[in-house]
Amino acid sequence: MMNNLKTLQDRIDAFLTSYLSEKSASTLQQAMSYSLLAGGKRIRPILVYLTGQMFGCPLANLDEPAAAIESIHTYSLIHDDLPAMDNDDLRRGKPTCHIQFNEAQAILAGDALQSLAFTLLAESQFLDDQAKIRMITELAQASGLDGMCLGQSLDLQAEHQSISLEHLQKIHCYKTGALIKAAIRLGAYASGNQAIPYYANLDHYSKAIGLAFQIQDDILDIIGEQAIMGKRQGSDIAHEKSTYPSLMGLKNAQQLTQQLYQQAIDSVKQIPYNSKPLQDLASYIINRNS
Ligand code: IPE
Ligand code: IPE
Ligand code: MG
Ligand code: MG
Ligand code: MG
Repeated sequence: MMNNLKTLQDRIDAFLTSYLSEKSASTLQQAMSYSLLAGGKRIRPILVYLTGQMFGCPLANLDEPAAAIESIHTYSLIHDDLPAMDNDDLRRGKPTCHIQFNEAQAILAGDALQSLAFTLLAESQFLDDQAKIRMITELAQASGLDGMCLGQSLDLQAEHQSISLEHLQKIHCYKTGALIKAAIRLGAYASGNQAIPYYANLDHYSKAIGLAFQIQDDILDIIGEQAIMGKRQGSDIAHEKSTYPSLMGLKNAQQLTQQLYQQAIDSVKQIPYNSKPLQDLASYIINRNS
């Protein structure tokens, strides 16, 4: 991971660690910390920081929104791994939450991480009320019936059958794209008026990297190394999921991530602020091996 990305990764890790350590100890708190502090790539918090930074927003104003999106994301991973969903036993290099604790505690850890996200936004000392309400609305929409949960529901319904590329794009856009778009919008909302003229550019960038992110995830499920990814390779094949490589072939899927990368950078290049970090992140997303 590039230098400035590593700095932001360390920043969100420190923020989350300190926040959770102040909560009183319980099995639920341990299960939440176990998954949240297991060392994910922190792409969504990094997107919050990079977007805010581009418009001159102080990093301290971005900590709560960054932590909120990571909290929702980690909840989605805990539930995604449950036996009723993808039934996976390895995540972020460790046994999944329901293996380490049990299914009931894992379900509850996910539930409590979801409410934690909204608590973080509501309690922030740095955001004004209008920004808070916009962020809470955005994150709620991106997580639920019009976002991640819908995508996960469609994903599970599509197992054991071949679906159209169009339908797969819809699934990916909801299950993964929605939270990535929300991360960038949270960064923009924290930045006040400067960002408003560029919402469309940012949404276009989000759409492209969100889809590219999940296509690369599908590619890594086939060619990635388990030890580097920290999760099982071959999970999609085992569950007969339709993926971009399964529907169009590995080469075409890889080419498509390149095209999406190009679209993403073309769109942020039009923003008259330093978009280089967002361009670098788009490159990281399509070239990553974990
Ligand atoms: C995995 O997300 C789930 C998808 C949406 C593809 P990440 O690849 O961002 O997982 P972590 O957070 O780094 O563990
Ligand atoms: C999950 O997609 C997307 C989520 C909303 C968590 P996957 O099921 O492909 O994610 P991994 O490969 O298990 O991380
Ligand atoms: Mg899944
Ligand atoms: Mg999965
Ligand atoms: Mg996957």
